[in-house]
Amino acid sequence: MSTKIAGSFAAQVAEGIPAELPEAPPDAPGVNRAPRRRNVLSAAESALALKNALRYVPAKHHARVAPELAAELENDGRIVMRRYRPHYDMHARPIDQYPAKSRQAAAIMLMIQNNLDPAVAQHPYELVTYGGNGAVFQNWAQYRLTMRYLAEMTDEQTLVLYSGHPLGLFPSHGDAPRVVVTNGMVIPNHSTPADYERLSALGVTSYGQMTAGSFMYIGPQGIVHGTVITLLNAGRKYLGTGPEALAGRLFVTSGLGGMSGAQAKAAVIAGAVAIVAEVNPKAVKTRFEQGWVMEVESDLDKLLLRAEAARRAKEAVSIAYQGNVVDLWERLAKEGVAVDLGSDQTSLHNPFGGGYYPAGMSFADGERLLRDDPGAFAAAVKDSLRRQVDAINALSARGMRFWDYGNAFLLEASRAGARVKRDDGSFAYPSYVEDIMGPMCFDFGFGPFRWVCTSGSGEDLEVTDAIAGQILEEMAASAPEDVKRQILDNARWIRAAAGNRLVVGSQARILYADASGRERIALAFNAAIADGRIRGPVVLGRDHHDVSGTDSPYRETANVRDGSNLTADMAVHNVIGDAFRGATWVSLHNGGGVGWGEVINGGFGMVIDGSEAAGRRIRSMITWDVNNGIARRAWARNEGAEQAIRRAMEADPRLSVTLPEHADDRLVHDALNKKGTRPV
Ligand SMILES: NC(=O)c1ccc[n+]([C@@H]2O[C@H](COP(=O)([O-])OP(=O)(O)OC[C@H]3O[C@@H](n4cnc5c(N)ncnc54)[C@H](O)[C@@H]3O)[C@@H](O)[C@H]2O)c1
Repeated sequence: MSTKIAGSFAAQVAEGIPAELPEAPPDAPGVNRAPRRRNVLSAAESALALKNALRYVPAKHHARVAPELAAELENDGRIVMRRYRPHYDMHARPIDQYPAKSRQAAAIMLMIQNNLDPAVAQHPYELVTYGGNGAVFQNWAQYRLTMRYLAEMTDEQTLVLYSGHPLGLFPSHGDAPRVVVTNGMVIPNHSTPADYERLSALGVTSYGQMTAGSFMYIGPQGIVHGTVITLLNAGRKYLGTGPEALAGRLFVTSGLGGMSGAQAKAAVIAGAVAIVAEVNPKAVKTRFEQGWVMEVESDLDKLLLRAEAARRAKEAVSIAYQGNVVDLWERLAKEGVAVDLGSDQTSLHNPFGGGYYPAGMSFADGERLLRDDPGAFAAAVKDSLRRQVDAINALSARGMRFWDYGNAFLLEASRAGARVKRDDGSFAYPSYVEDIMGPMCFDFGFGPFRWVCTSGSGEDLEVTDAIAGQILEEMAASAPEDVKRQILDNARWIRAAAGNRLVVGSQARILYADASGRERIALAFNAAIADGRIRGPVVLGRDHHDVSGTDSPYRETANVRDGSNLTADMAVHNVIGDAFRGATWVSLHNGGGVGWGEVINGGFGMVIDGSEAAGRRIRSMITWDVNNGIARRAWARNEGAEQAIRRAMEADPRLSVTLPEHADDRLVHDALNKKGTRPV
């Protein structure tokens, strides 16, 4: 028997998994659905997957539910337990509306709901927040159980989440994290994409991406900010741009999806002419209707004329090319168009599962080929990548500066046999972290600090904007030259942030700050909560795409060149250190951005409520969260990081970091040659 769910939001949360079967909620029109996937499991494994999912369902309902879950596995390749999606609206509520004994737990409930809000999440019904597979939970039963635990728990307990599965509440203490999350942790020899497909279909692992699985995604604002910073610094580094930023410069890229869609908006904020190719007409329509991309063109002749006119007039404009990016690059190369900056943001972390659509066919035909003949689809993807790279190489030879945008473009292109490597085996193009974010931001501690006002009030957000802006301006006045430009970029950003109207979902804000900037802003927020200028707790956090949280040789740690870029000690230490220094929740993930098995990343959330205890946690944790990564980057001989960690040691005598001695290259060369070893 199934029952129609009734009762208040609080009552439904408290119920967790109801004793009687709930009816599946109706699907709202227009909600973006995840593409269907093949069931990759054998018959015996499918039985195991079904038994695994039924662990969440009262046994008396198994006969009714089992066929339904089997159908999900067959049709979607995994079991999301659609019947258990709640009937109430999914969005962040003001913190006081959450049924909870712990304010910290209530804040976490707010963040979870925000990450599943249909206005925020990419495939909300499949619990995917962004990046195609970045999941908050594996299934709706896990969501329900977790919300119930959070409602029940006290500040003397910690909730343990294994890839979305709530293992339970365990006794702890008031200064411990309320929630500890891991996503996708596997034995290293079982960390291939095929392992992921199998283990996630079995219901025993999950791809948390970065902020999705740690409840810290705040909608597109985060990525717009990061992209603006990248483009401004790319202009400085590659084109020598000054105060005019990218006015009159042409930037060509692809992707109008979850994160990639930010490129169009960010390019306009940076003053550029941007052409962004997007093969999925639905994604083009969404971004155009949102005003994120200003014009749409599917005729390449007209597109080129329009872009040239905009460039001459120094007009900041974003134009979507509705079509395959391969066609765009080949045409630009054929005409010899003077492209200044180039990149790519198709979802190549998932190359053969729908992240990249092959040239020579429509989007719909590509989807059909993927479902009917995955082998032919993969071959067509590889062929397209080779063509795309040939065109990019031709334009680069004429002066274009191209970078990999953290989507595994160079990795997958090289695996496809495209000409992206130099003779010595290194990639011919830098990743945006290797050249831009790493040496210009991360090495100095600048990274994506963010916060959410749990009152849900826009006025509170304005107060936080004003506080943060003032602190940045004060810091810029006395900052050394190498960090001053970054601080000023962010001061400008925060002053214009409300006007750019980027809030979607919770009242959230992002900016890049270094260790002392983050600590000063956090302490100032805590003081403002204490004296009532901010009317509720604030959640502090960050993207994992940061100084210390992520070991990723093709992205965050691409500019770590002492050979340790294949190790993951930093990300693991970062999360352990955050956990015992005061984080309210911590998370550690395999995968994220560049793909399963390619990265370990972690993050935190910290709820501050104006109390002295919150101040103590800020002082204990925030600088660790940044400085441990700077220390590691300094040990890798990164110049900016050495300067930054020396300054941090001067500011706090308790900090004492091992610094490298620098060996003379000639001496090393001679030493090896004397031994008869190959010269370095
Ligand atoms: N923006 C950043 O700073 C940043 C940071 C880290 C990682 N990334 C990476 O960027 C990638 C994109 O992320 P997303 O969230 O936008 O993913 P997404 O899947 O939502 O968007 C990618 C878009 O590319 C389009 N596309 C695929 N093949 C195409 C082709 N051949 N021609 C034209 N368009 C094509 C798809 O239709 C889709 O809309 C991911 O791999 C992500 O990990 C971006």
